[in-house]
Amino acid sequence: MALRCISDLPDSDLAGKRVFVRADLNVPLTPARGVAEDNRIVASVPTIEYALKRGAKVIVASHLGRPDGVTPALSLEPVGARLAELLGREVMLTDEAIGDGARKVVADMRPGDVVLLENLRFFAGEEANDEGFSRQLGAYAEVYVNDAFGCAHRAHASTVGMLPHVPLRVCGLLLKREIEFLTRLLGQVAHPYWAVIGGAKVSDKIGVLDNLLSRVDGFVIGGAMANTFLKARGIAVGSSRVEENKLHLAREFLQRAQERKIEILLPVDAVTAPGLDAASTGVHKLSDIPAGEMALDIGPETTAGFVDRITRAKTVFWNGPMGVFEKPQFADGTLAIARAIASISGLTIVGGGDSAAAVHVAGVAKKISHISTGGGASLEFIEGRTLPGIAALEKV
Ligand code: 3PG
Repeated sequence: MALRCISDLPDSDLAGKRVFVRADLNVPLTPARGVAEDNRIVASVPTIEYALKRGAKVIVASHLGRPDGVTPALSLEPVGARLAELLGREVMLTDEAIGDGARKVVADMRPGDVVLLENLRFFAGEEANDEGFSRQLGAYAEVYVNDAFGCAHRAHASTVGMLPHVPLRVCGLLLKREIEFLTRLLGQVAHPYWAVIGGAKVSDKIGVLDNLLSRVDGFVIGGAMANTFLKARGIAVGSSRVEENKLHLAREFLQRAQERKIEILLPVDAVTAPGLDAASTGVHKLSDIPAGEMALDIGPETTAGFVDRITRAKTVFWNGPMGVFEKPQFADGTLAIARAIASISGLTIVGGGDSAAAVHVAGVAKKISHISTGGGASLEFIEGRTLPGIAALEKV
C-alpha cells in the first residue's frame, strides 16, 4: 500500500501547524561528545525544511543510544547544535521530552520555529510503547511525520503508539525514499544481481541471505561471517572466529544455494594478525594462516575476485564490511569493495552503518544509488519482514 507522504499534503495542512517529525538522529558521538558522523542528521534535513518552508512549527524527536533512564552523556544537545548548523536557524532543545517545561516550549512556538525534544529514551515509556507517554507526545502536534527509517523496526511510542493521538499521519521524504529503493531490491531488477554480505555474525544476516536467494544471481560473502561459511565448506581458517553453533545454518544455506545454482563467492586469502589491535603480519592463503593468527580482512586475490563479479553486475546490494574496517590496517578490502560498487552504472544500494561509513571514507558516496540510513531496519526490510513503524502508517 502506498504511504501518504508529507509531500502529498496540501500546504494548508502544514502552514501554522505543529508538525511532529520523528527522525532517527541516533548518530555516533566523539569522546568529547561531538557528533562523530552526521549522515543521519543530514538525511533528516529535507523533511524538516519541507515543513518549515510551508510555515509549520516543527517539533523534532529522536532517541540517541540506549540510555538507562536520564543519561546526560546521551543528551541530544550536540545533535541539536549540528541540526541548527545544517538548517541555518535556531533549534531549541527541551529539558525533557515530555512534561510542563516541554509543553510550554511547544505551546509558545511560532511558524518557522524548530524545537528538538530531549532524548525520547530518557523515559522508559518510549521503548515500552506506553499509552500515557504516547498520548503526551501525540498532544504536541496536529501532524505526525515519521521520517525515522532507522528505527522503523522498533514498535515504540514515537514510532507506533502516538499515531492514534495525532489527527494527521504521514511519512517523511527520507522514509519514502528508503522504502522506494529497498523495495526495488525485492522486485524486478536488472541482472546480474549480486548481494555483497559481510559483518561479524551469520545469525544477523541469515534472514537476508535466505530472502535474497530466490532473487540474486550470486552472493559475495566476506567479513568474519565468511569464516563460518568457509568452515562449513570444510576449509581451514586458522584461529579466525567461527560461530560453531551456526555451522548448520551455513551448511543448509550453501546446500540451498547449490540446488538453485546460485553462486557463492567466499574468500581465498586474508590479511591476518594475532589480534584486532595488532599489526598485520601479511597476506596468507586461508589454508596457510599462521597458528594463533586470524583473518581480519580479505586478501588481494579475494578482493580481485569479488571486484570482478561486482563490476559485471547491474544491481548490487551491500551490507556489512569485509574485515575489521574501523582499523586502518584491515580496511583495504572493504574500501576496494566500496569503490567497485560505486563504479557500476546500475542500481547500487548500501545498508548498514559500517558499509555506509566505508563508502563515505572511500569518497564514493555520491556514486551510490542509495545509502540506507537503517542498520537493523534495512536488514529486516530486506528479510521481507513487516516493520512496525511503516505498518502503523499504513493503517491510517
Ligand atoms: C539504529 O541505530 O539502528 C537505530 O537508531 C535503532 O537503534 P536501536 O537499535 O538502539 O533501537
